[in-house]
Parts: sequence; structure tokens; C-alpha cells
Amino acid sequence: MMAFLRRLFGRGEPHIAPAHVRDAAAIAALHAASFHRGWSEEEVENLLLDPQVLAHSLRVGGGFAGFVMSRCAADEAEILSIAVTRRCQGRGLARRMLTMHMRRLAALGVKALFLEVAESNRAAIALYRKAGFRDVAKRPNYYPMPDGTTAAALVLRRDIA
Ligand SMILES: CC(C)(COP(=O)(O)OP(=O)(O)OC[C@H]1O[C@@H](n2cnc3c(N)ncnc32)[C@H](O)[C@@H]1OP(=O)(O)O)[C@@H](O)C(=O)NCCC(=O)NCCS
Repeated sequence: MMAFLRRLFGRGEPHIAPAHVRDAAAIAALHAASFHRGWSEEEVENLLLDPQVLAHSLRVGGGFAGFVMSRCAADEAEILSIAVTRRCQGRGLARRMLTMHMRRLAALGVKALFLEVAESNRAAIALYRKAGFRDVAKRPNYYPMPDGTTAAALVLRRDIA
């Protein structure tokens, strides 16, 4: 009963661990709720099975609450996505996931980490800048938005060696 209530209210101890294929449905649902173009469960499964992809999931009170995923290539990696469920946002959990994810990437020999983020995504940009990422490029008209317009993408980079 207490475990159910902790899950319901998004409370309890956060736990970050490598993501498994069994997390694919929860990751796909959160991705679809967070982004205009969502990933299907099959796409997520394929990513989780890709040996070049590193993924962590976040649980709070035993319930799925977020994920972060990167693709590695030689000594560089790109963050493919990060998201935290709405009820668990604003509690420093994305920062904790990102910190653990970057430690693991560094242990795997990754020296530079890149990502693309919509210029309009203030929460994500603040998260990344506080985590030490710096702007390296801007891609105009990159993301199609739900209202038919487009948003520019910022390319950010952080050394993690
Ligand atoms: C971006 C996202 C992952 C942040 O998750 P979160 O767990 O709420 O973030 P945290 O609580 O760890 O916040 C870390 C920092 O990010 C920034 N931040 C987070 N949410 C913010 C918001 N709504 N507005 C402004 N800054 C915000 C703050 O700088 C914060 O540091 P502070 O608490 O010291 O001020 C979450 O909002 C989300 O899932 N958004 C939808 C998916 C998405 O856009 N992902 C990014 C794709 S590139």
C-alpha cells in the first residue's frame, strides 16, 4: 500500500540504473508525452539493444520516472534524449541522471559529449548550461513544431574527460 502511494505521488527515494529492454514501453510513453515527434516502443527497443547506446532509467518510489540516452562513436557521444515525468520534475532528478550518465560515459572513454536542443526549450537549456555545456552551433528551422512553425536547434558540447 505504501509503495503504491509513493508511486502515485512520485515520492520516495530516486534510483538511477542502466535501462533495460523491459523499460522500452515506459520510455516510449514518456518520450511521446515530452516531444512533438515521439519514439515508438520498437524504436526504443532497437536503441536499447544497440551496443553503441548507453541508457539510464530513473525510478522514484519504485515507479518509472525518467530516462537519459546517448549514442557513442569513438571518443565522442551524443545525448539522444532526456526526460523526467511531469510529477517528478523540478527536484534535481534530471541533473542527477545526467551526472551519473556522464560519469559512466567518461568511464567508457568518451571525451566530448554533444546534444541538440530546441532554442525554445528553456528548461533543458538551463539544465545543460548548469551542467557545463557550451554552445557550439545554431541550426535554424530545425525542429517542426506542433503549430506548423519551426524552431532553431542549438548544438551544445561539454568535455567530460
Ligand atoms: C528538461 C527536463 C529533463 C528537466 O528535468 P528536471 O528533473 O525538472 O530538472 P532538474 O530539477 O534536475 O533541474 C536542473 C536544472 O535545470 C533547470 N530547469 C529545470 N526545469 C526548469 C524550468 N522549468 N525552467 C527553467 N529552468 C529549469 C534549472 O537550471 C535547474 O537547476 P536549479 O534547480 O538549480 O535551478 C524536464 O523538464 C523534461 O523532461 N522536459 C521534457 C523533455 C525535454 O525537453 N528534454 C530535453 C530534450 S533536449
